[in-house]
Amino acid sequence: MPESRCLQGIWSSPWIFIFAASGSAVGLGNIWKFPYLIGENGGGAFLVIYCACLLLVGLPILMAEVALGRTVRSNPIDTINDLSERRVISSFWVVVPWIAGLAGFLILTFYSVIAGWSIAYFERAVSGKLVGITQVQATGMFNHLLASPGEMLLWHSIFMALVVLTVGQSVTRGLAALVRILLPVLIVVMVLLAGYSLKTGDAADAIHFLFRWSWQDVSFDVVLAAVGHALFSLSIGMGAMFAYGAYMSKRMSIARACSAVVTVDLVVSLLACLVIFPLAFAFHINLDSGPSLAFVSLPIIFGNLPAGQLVGGFFFLLLVIAALTSSISMLELFVAWLHEKFYIARFKAALLLGGAAWFIGIAVLLSFNHWDVKVLFDLNLFELLDKLTSLIMLPVGAILLSVLVAWFIPKTMLQNEMITRQTSHFRLWYNTLKYISIPALVVITLAGWIGV
Ligand code: TRP
Repeated sequence: MPESRCLQGIWSSPWIFIFAASGSAVGLGNIWKFPYLIGENGGGAFLVIYCACLLLVGLPILMAEVALGRTVRSNPIDTINDLSERRVISSFWVVVPWIAGLAGFLILTFYSVIAGWSIAYFERAVSGKLVGITQVQATGMFNHLLASPGEMLLWHSIFMALVVLTVGQSVTRGLAALVRILLPVLIVVMVLLAGYSLKTGDAADAIHFLFRWSWQDVSFDVVLAAVGHALFSLSIGMGAMFAYGAYMSKRMSIARACSAVVTVDLVVSLLACLVIFPLAFAFHINLDSGPSLAFVSLPIIFGNLPAGQLVGGFFFLLLVIAALTSSISMLELFVAWLHEKFYIARFKAALLLGGAAWFIGIAVLLSFNHWDVKVLFDLNLFELLDKLTSLIMLPVGAILLSVLVAWFIPKTMLQNEMITRQTSHFRLWYNTLKYISIPALVVITLAGWIGV
């Protein structure tokens, strides 16, 4: 399809794709989750395996998703429908984008609640409520937040309103304008924070922990955690990158753009570790304290630093910004589809979907207090949605989308899309996808399911 016929427009500059896709990739996963995963999985060993997963599984699948999106210049649902109507692929594939889109939607329902916690801590930090806080007080503060559905609802609602307002704009305008400013700010502030942390904290121990290698730390569980997080962190498996690829200018090399996204994602994750670890070592805070690391330990750190009010405020603001640019990509697939298929205004579509996600989010936030009931498999609603999406829907979505690209989409179609002058580069990507990325992901996912 010629570029001018694309309903939603194209990123005004080829660079915007990199910003938007990085904005999707960089999120709570990088700043909140990655440091505690490294902490739990033994530091350097996890880092090395994670980098291998990014390179061998993440990057090739990311390129596959983006290439497919750009080939058809449409949303994933219509794209697959169209290909199946033209009998390029069988009608079985029609369900794939629905699984993918549903995964994004479901992730948003709880992602918004956690992003809401970040707004809550931003408020606590700037208003000085963290000053001089002790470990007991910080734990109490976090538990108090979890036990206050009214407060969580307020922050969750504010966050979802921001998401709807942004996705409601044309994505090539609203989102582009936002990420162009936000992403560089995010990186600059994180570099400053890392510098601050390395200077005031225990830099030597932190660096040693982050880059040490020990064979004892390598286990199958570590590999599983690393590959799962690589998918989550790069926003692969739910068609978000597919949708962004549809707005990508033909002038941009997919390989180069995707490599840039992977690099930015890794750099932000590393920066997050450099912010957290030196201070955590200096304050003797357990690195393997899991998901509470950000919301219990960091307030203690910030509360006891001279400029903690400012530093803490910045840090939680970063979390909110990163979560916002990620959440936008979770709604984009369905918003684009409703807009292109039924000509529903983007804002209305965003309101409809964001409203539905907000509503389910209320049940999610209640599952931390009044409604902490085991819904299924001994999990409450929050745990269920988290596990269902990250352990089942995302890997399945990623496997199916990349199998579709590697085995069913005609090779010539992809070759045209990759427009790389060196056919050896194309072959390298294609063969890596077919013979390394997909088999590795299948084996690791199945092994995870049967609990090896
Ligand atoms: N990548 C984001 C993060 O690291 C989360 C995210 C955004 C995501 N879009 C996604 C995860 C799509 C999986 C699929 O926080």
